[in-house]
Amino acid sequence: MKRRIEPEWLDDLPADDPRAVRSRRDLRRVNWWMGHPATMAQTLREACPREAPARVVDLGAGDGDFCARVAQRLAPGWRNVTAVLLDRQSTVHGEVPQRLAAGGWQVEVVVADVFQWLQQADRSGPAVFVANLFLHHFGSEQLAGLFEAVAARGALLVACEPRRGLWPLACAGLLGLIGCNAVTRHDAAASVRAGFAGRELSALWPAPGWQLHEGRAGLFSHLFVARKDGACP
Ligand SMILES: C[S@@+](CC[C@H](N)C(=O)[O-])C[C@H]1O[C@@H](n2cnc3c(N)ncnc32)[C@H](O)[C@@H]1O
Repeated sequence: MKRRIEPEWLDDLPADDPRAVRSRRDLRRVNWWMGHPATMAQTLREACPREAPARVVDLGAGDGDFCARVAQRLAPGWRNVTAVLLDRQSTVHGEVPQRLAAGGWQVEVVVADVFQWLQQADRSGPAVFVANLFLHHFGSEQLAGLFEAVAARGALLVACEPRRGLWPLACAGLLGLIGCNAVTRHDAAASVRAGFAGRELSALWPAPGWQLHEGRAGLFSHLFVARKDGACP
C-alpha cells in the first residue's frame, strides 16, 4: 500500500465542536483497543529501567488522556516527572492534571505548532519525547525535520502509530461497531493510509549515535524507538 497523507477532520474542526469532542472521547477507546498506553509504558520502562527522566514531552497530546494513562502504568516507579503536553489545539481535559498529579507528575500544557515549538524549545536537559497517533500526519520531509529537532534536544523518542496495511484498514472500517462517530471513522481510515510499514521512519532519522528499533506492535500498530547511545542507562 502506497503511503497517502490526507487531511483529518479532527485537525480542522474547532476544538469545542461537539463532533470533535466526541471524536477525542472515541480516541480514548481506540487507544485502548490498539493497546497503545501499555505499549508506550512498557517501551519507556525498558528504555529507562533505572531512573525516570525529568521531562516527557508528548507531541500532539490531544486531550492528555493518553499521557495520563501511560503515567498511571509507570507508577509508582516514575515520579517527579514533568509531562509537557504539546498540541496546536487547546484540548487538554480538565481532569488530566489531577490524574497526572496522582502519580507524582507535574504538567506543563503547551499550545503550539510542533515545528515552531521545537525550534524554540531550550536544549537544556535531554527530554524524552513520545508521540501517539501523531507522526502519520506528516510527509517524509517534515518528519525528517522533526526528527532532526528532536535528536538535537532529546535522549529518546517513542512513537506508536498506525500500521499501514489492508488488515488495519479493514478494522478501521469496523470502528462504528464500538460506537465511534463519523469523524473518528474517517480519520482512522485516513490514518492507516498515512501510517507506516517496514523501516520507513528509521530511514528518515538523521543522527548517528542512536539505536533505532522499528516494527509491528500488536494487531494494528507500528512502533518506532530512537534512543541516544548511553541515554537512560
Ligand atoms: C489523532 S490525534 C492524537 C491525540 C493523542 N496523541 C491521543 O492519542 O489521543 C492528533 C493530534 O495531533 C495534533 N496536531 C496535529 N498537527 C499538529 C501540529 N503541527 N502541531 C501540534 N499538534 C498537532 C492535533 O491537534 C491532534 O490533537
